[in-house]
Amino acid sequence: MDQTEQNKLKALVGQEAVKYVQDGMIVGLGTGSTVRYMVDALGKRVNEEHLNIVGVTTSTRTTKQAESLGITIKDLDEVDHIDLVIDGADEISDDFQGIKGGGGALLWEKIVADASDKCMWIVDQSKMVHQLGAFPLPVEVIPFGSSHVFAKMEKFGFKPSWRMDGDEQYLTDQKNYIIDLHLGQINDPAKLYEKLIHIVGVVEVGLFLNRVNDVIIGTNNGPVVKHAR
Ligand code: 5RP
Repeated sequence: MDQTEQNKLKALVGQEAVKYVQDGMIVGLGTGSTVRYMVDALGKRVNEEHLNIVGVTTSTRTTKQAESLGITIKDLDEVDHIDLVIDGADEISDDFQGIKGGGGALLWEKIVADASDKCMWIVDQSKMVHQLGAFPLPVEVIPFGSSHVFAKMEKFGFKPSWRMDGDEQYLTDQKNYIIDLHLGQINDPAKLYEKLIHIVGVVEVGLFLNRVNDVIIGTNNGPVVKHAR
């Protein structure tokens, strides 16, 4: 699939997802290029239909975009729950487990997902895989002592690389680093998650397990909705 075709499918699912937003909702807004289309479509609905919604974002990037479109944004700590979070994903397996964090926002994304009653992922069809792992698994680590965490991951055979931003190390909104693990395939995501999350210095892992309720997949025949749980 070329980039133009992929962007078309991303826009398609973004526009489809906002149909699930109802007046009065508190909506979690994910991060990434697919979510960008969704936030554009949501802004359009807010302006045209005068929807009274509140957005809770998962990155400063999304906050900027949403506010520029006139969407009211609140901090997660200002609301007691979120009705629905709409986010992208990097890979989704047959059993609806996911890798997220390609856009570097995995920590806030997971916290927002945790506070949400319903979780929806929007992806183009290239993100649907049988088994997770071809996409490098992002792991957010605190900068202090992170070279030791990196060395540990090398020792485990996880083929780590530092996420970079030009010549500098990539910094998340939380001012942490990201280490990407080039695993090829992940046979037991839950076991891997347990191993990684218990390394001191690891803040969060880009494995989103048993979290998503609905997935909207952009295909050449239109959006396909799959119900996961
Ligand atoms: C950001 C994410 C994104 O949702 C994921 O990387 C998908 O991004 P895109 O829609 O640009 O392909 O997890 O941290």
